[in-house]
Amino acid sequence: MFDRLNALPADPLLGLISAFQNDTNPNKVDLGVGVYRDETGHTSIMTAVQKAAARHMETEDSKTYIGPGGVIGFVEGIKQLVFGAESAALKDGRVSGLQCPGGCGSLRIGAELLKRLNSDLTVWVSDPTWANHIPLISSSGLNIKTYPYFDPSTGGVNFEAMDTKLAELGPNDIVLLHGCCHNPTGADLSFENWQRVAERAAKQGFIPFIDIAYQGLGDGLEEDVKGIRYLSENVEEMLIATSCSKNFGLYRERVGTLLVQTKNAEHTNVIQTQVQDIARANYSMSPAYGGFLVDIILSDSELRNEWENELNAMATRMKSLRNGLYENIQQQGIEQDFSFINRQKGMFSYLGINGDQIQRLRDEFGIYMAGSSRINIAGLNSQSLEYVAKSLKSVL
Ligand SMILES: Cc1ncc(COP(=O)(O)O)c(C=O)c1O
Repeated sequence: MFDRLNALPADPLLGLISAFQNDTNPNKVDLGVGVYRDETGHTSIMTAVQKAAARHMETEDSKTYIGPGGVIGFVEGIKQLVFGAESAALKDGRVSGLQCPGGCGSLRIGAELLKRLNSDLTVWVSDPTWANHIPLISSSGLNIKTYPYFDPSTGGVNFEAMDTKLAELGPNDIVLLHGCCHNPTGADLSFENWQRVAERAAKQGFIPFIDIAYQGLGDGLEEDVKGIRYLSENVEEMLIATSCSKNFGLYRERVGTLLVQTKNAEHTNVIQTQVQDIARANYSMSPAYGGFLVDIILSDSELRNEWENELNAMATRMKSLRNGLYENIQQQGIEQDFSFINRQKGMFSYLGINGDQIQRLRDEFGIYMAGSSRINIAGLNSQSLEYVAKSLKSVL
């Protein structure tokens, strides 16, 4: 039976990791995989997370199953982080929450829920979007289509084109939005854009599905969810997939939540049973460990402060790398306009260079990036900025 299937090609980004490892160029720079790196290129464990892990180790006295919703304190903590203490939806009990295995698990459970609600729904994703959105959503059997988003001529969002598409959508449509720090482009919606999306959703009846995997890594913990909070106040129903992979550095622990805002507490109770049932049928329940750690951090003011400071330091470092890269590009006398690097947010930028140029950067200079020209800003450091800018000049 097993001869019926063929081997699949390796994931291109994972192929990039091994190509980088085998590269003997002493100046090589890895701007490929989307993980945060410090100045030395290391993805360390945040100190707040280390302290929470030590505390958890001392206090956990059983490994029995947790409830189907996950670590309740964790889910409540994430609801507060995303919606804010003043949220009417939270106060009214209109938000269900399920701990899921990472942002990916949350997106997938969200897609399965939508499929249960209506198998004819179409999920609209930005053009381009994070590559994994496509398999995560389409594996649930839902239709998937793209709406215009990125404008290569400005390095920003072509909101007019996006809005024109949104104007055509209705109750059978779901619009997947990146809460902040758009992956792969770094081009985010402005607050005015979010307001317009909310207006369209309320009027036409499409449902926003927000993926927020970088809260705190753009303009700050509160600032990064301004758009989501506006939607929450102005649209009755929406889904949110969160991830603690990047902002808590818990990648391998697989920590996320699916939050669903509904019209009333009654609907919320129904949805809570449905999402738990979907999880049960797939993997029973989420691993608990990472949720415990985040719960400890969010509910202890000292640890929370420490975490927020570390997170701010990561965001500030990425902003200064953006600035540094742009300055070095200017110093090289490159005429092409790369000022968008400074305007984009979070961990990624689309350089907008072609396939040949990407290949030459890799072969001749040992600079690795995704085939789309997406670079991981955190893969740069103060030593490599000039080298990357000089190499870029050589291939342009
Ligand atoms: C846009 C986006 N959404 C979701 C995720 C989910 O990540 P994870 O499943 O590791 O939490 C990522 C991770 O790279 C991402 O970039």
